[in-house]
Amino acid sequence: MANRAAILTIFAAFAMVGLVSSSKFDALFQPSWAFDHFTNEGEVVHMRLDNHSGAGFSSKSKYLFGKVTVQIKLVAGDSAGTVTAFYMSSEGPYHNEFDFEFLGNKTGEPYLVQTNVYVNGVGNREQRLNLWFDPTKDFHSYAIFWNQRQVVFLVDETPVRVHSNLEHKGIPFPKDQAMGVYSSIWNADDWATQGGLVKTDWSHAPFVASYTGFEINACACPGEVAAADIRKRCSSSAERRYWWDEPTVSELNLHQSHQLVWVRANHMVYDYCSDTARFPATPAECEHHRH
Ligand SMILES: *[C@@H]1O[C@H](CO)[C@@H](O)[C@H](O)[C@H]1NC(C)=O
Ligand SMILES: *[C@@H]1O[C@H](CO)[C@@H](O)[C@H](O)[C@H]1NC(C)=O
Repeated sequence: MANRAAILTIFAAFAMVGLVSSSKFDALFQPSWAFDHFTNEGEVVHMRLDNHSGAGFSSKSKYLFGKVTVQIKLVAGDSAGTVTAFYMSSEGPYHNEFDFEFLGNKTGEPYLVQTNVYVNGVGNREQRLNLWFDPTKDFHSYAIFWNQRQVVFLVDETPVRVHSNLEHKGIPFPKDQAMGVYSSIWNADDWATQGGLVKTDWSHAPFVASYTGFEINACACPGEVAAADIRKRCSSSAERRYWWDEPTVSELNLHQSHQLVWVRANHMVYDYCSDTARFPATPAECEHHRH
């Protein structure tokens, strides 16, 4: 009996993995939980949340520096209570993390995009913006670009947030831990929509987020590379130059700086840097933000 059950389980696992077979997705990522909540259509991967489970996928490799892009079409219609996240994270208690979290809403009400940066295990750096388009109608690209000077969050190639390296001011910057790339969809109706007032309406389930255009142009760090050697391996040297170390990408160019100013003026609805009720003393890195 036990053997038979094991064999059936193996077959079931194959069948479920087979559901996700977008070639780009398969080369770079794998479902990490709720395999039966994935389906694919050509190069598009759908991931769904229902009253049993959300779902998530993760990259097969870990990376230090470079750029990761996915195109996402967010849950359409009533997505209140749902959160779809796209993020990079290292592991352990002093982990680093760069987050995009898309907070759903009632039909016709705008999504909020929350970004956050964790450094050495400490987050609390939320920013929130609304978008200049309906993210449920079409695919739009969401990217994280990262080098030794800055972490940039981009929406359709428009920078929406920059976290700069201010180590010269004594502020730690994430640059020594390789990070995986992740996405997930889950129920967060205790906080996500209008501060938790609007609950998930399960009669509208399943809630489906769709993905395509998976691109990772970054320094892959095999697990066997010692932590102390990771940064060396992924930094330019006399023997090799990496594009993310080029002077042209060490900071935003003029056009991108203008785009960021526009986003902040027209689309930012919350910035931890100006939340004096939460942070009576302005967080150290905020003092130095140029924007
Ligand atoms: C989940 O939703 C389905 C369809 O709406 C319903 O039939 C089922 O009872 C629900 N299950 C739970 C555990 O709430
Ligand atoms: C949902 O819509 C309301 C009303 O337009 C808005 O105040 C809120 O910021 C939107 N987003 C979320 C996630 O609550």
